Amino acid sequence: MSDRLHTLSGYLYEYQKSVSQPEEFWARIADSFFWRKRWNKTLEWNFEKPDVKWFAGGKLNITENIFERQLFTHADQAAIIWEPNDPNEETRTLTYRELYEEVNRFSNALKSKGIQKGDRVIIYMPMVPEAAVAMLACARIGAIHSVVFAGFSASALADRIIDCKAKAVLTSDGNFRGAKKIPVKAVVDEALEKASVESVIVYQRTNQEVTMKEGRDFWWHEVVANESTENKAEEMDSEDMLFILYTSGSTGKPKGVVHTTGGYMVYTKYSFENVFQYSPGDVYWCTADIGWITGHSYIVYGPLLAGATTLMFEGVPTFPDAGRFWQVVEKHQVNQFYTAPTAIRALQAYGTEPIEGNDLSSLKVLGSVGEPINEEAWHWYHTHVGKGKCPIVDTWWQTETGGIMVSPLAGITPTKPAYATLPLPGIQLTIVDADGKELTGNGVEGNLCIKFPWPSMIRTTYGDHERCKQTYFSTYKGMYFTGDGVKRDHDGYYRILGRVDDVINVSGHRMGTAEVENAINEHPLVIESAVVGYPHEVKGQGIYAYVICDMKNRTEENLVAEIKDTVSKIIGPIAKPDKIQIVPGLPKTRSGKIMRRILRKVAEGVTENMGDTSTLLDPEVVEKIIEGRK
Ligand code: WTA
Repeated sequence: MSDRLHTLSGYLYEYQKSVSQPEEFWARIADSFFWRKRWNKTLEWNFEKPDVKWFAGGKLNITENIFERQLFTHADQAAIIWEPNDPNEETRTLTYRELYEEVNRFSNALKSKGIQKGDRVIIYMPMVPEAAVAMLACARIGAIHSVVFAGFSASALADRIIDCKAKAVLTSDGNFRGAKKIPVKAVVDEALEKASVESVIVYQRTNQEVTMKEGRDFWWHEVVANESTENKAEEMDSEDMLFILYTSGSTGKPKGVVHTTGGYMVYTKYSFENVFQYSPGDVYWCTADIGWITGHSYIVYGPLLAGATTLMFEGVPTFPDAGRFWQVVEKHQVNQFYTAPTAIRALQAYGTEPIEGNDLSSLKVLGSVGEPINEEAWHWYHTHVGKGKCPIVDTWWQTETGGIMVSPLAGITPTKPAYATLPLPGIQLTIVDADGKELTGNGVEGNLCIKFPWPSMIRTTYGDHERCKQTYFSTYKGMYFTGDGVKRDHDGYYRILGRVDDVINVSGHRMGTAEVENAINEHPLVIESAVVGYPHEVKGQGIYAYVICDMKNRTEENLVAEIKDTVSKIIGPIAKPDKIQIVPGLPKTRSGKIMRRILRKVAEGVTENMGDTSTLLDPEVVEKIIEGRK
């Protein structure tokens, strides 16, 4: 039986089955993969601990499912099409066979550098096919990869290397990003002054000058030069770790979300095929970076497990001009295009002229991910990019969920602007109020939880299981809490309203307010700070920081610039506050708690009716903050 859903009634039928008999449902899907040994038990779970095991006892290697399982049928088909940053540079295409050989060569090279099953490997690379090769080579030998977005600073990189006790870093000399050339290896060098690893493998991309440390640093092309293109895959247990991906939460320190092998494999392929309705021969393009979960699940694993052709783009949407996305769509005859609302809004600002003149008739499906898509952007995307004929799949999910949880199935589920619509089969959503009471029926609003395990769910937070339990499984007993607010309308459709915790979503990137505050507080003249999100036209949310400083003899302008620099250094440019307001004090309760509600209102532009301020230690401070708002 095929796992493909083709009709709305088919979806509804399968959804019912996935809820009434989840184990039978997922066992049937999992049976279409290649297992060296079939599992003993489809699911064991306990959300209190939490402890979730899918396909326990099953033995497999995820790369065998990408390659060996498909080489008879897909060997000469393009696996990855790579579009460089500079349109004048040549495109590269790797067929399934070529990718297989590259992965094997590089996995042999990793082994020769002493990397073994279970070792952690950091990947800090630009968007080149070798980044995917690096991930798959780790998976091939059972090493656990942790990709760090190449825009993170040396300090953020060092924290992640230390947290997962990585044995190696895979990187590049530099990175082309728009008109800029970024010194990637130099950032790694700086990180390795604080953290340490046994080896660093450097892919040559920009040919810029780098320092190579004897005995530790090696060139990618040299280490693979004499390696064999064959390498038998390591046998993994279904619940062996596949990767760690760090993400921000409401506390200061990013946490390492852990995904395991079997369930992640089953769910990413299943969700990819059904949401995007990929057909053989299609060219699928997801514009995310491999440093985020979207890049993991829907550039690399999902599409490759499905035997798809996945396009990888090195550049940015506005280089050399704001028509670049559409030029790439035409050049490669892209059929499914998956991007973020922030990119849509940014391009919307250039009008429709950059779209015109490009033939977008190949497009069949448009996707959106990372943040709520506002209705205006939805319509613009639908009308001008999709010419009114492409369904939009607004996909809601998280690093922790591993795969898409709520989304239309392209062309099958009737869409509604700004609605992620309905859950995928196997996903049992529930909406709870602040006390954890389930809100049944339609036309309700509350916090989004998931009450039954799904195969690609988070298993733990690396090195700190208690944190996983506290963050996701303790707020509401017996449920996974997403941290998102949601509305279920009268049709039973879901609309995600945004985070209800201290996480800000800036251009689809998650930032913890505490994390940004910690970075700001590193500036020697900062006494205290409070960070909130505010509505931003392009980014969705912007970062607004209220800072108490010892001004010394600095001007406000200088100090603000220095604070922004500090945040760039500690986390990376993506975390730089959009607005910094130097304040004489913060609105605190008598017990010393900052009233963020007030700060959020001021950042949004509200200047009166601040709500109850009677518990404030110094109510006057609110007036001063309002007067000085940016
Ligand atoms: C938000 C990205 C509305 C949400 C895959 C979630 C969305 C967080 C959507 C996870 C969407 C993601 N509509 N909000 N379609 N997709 N979000 O871990 O707040 O980087 O909790 O995963 O992004 O971000 P993350």
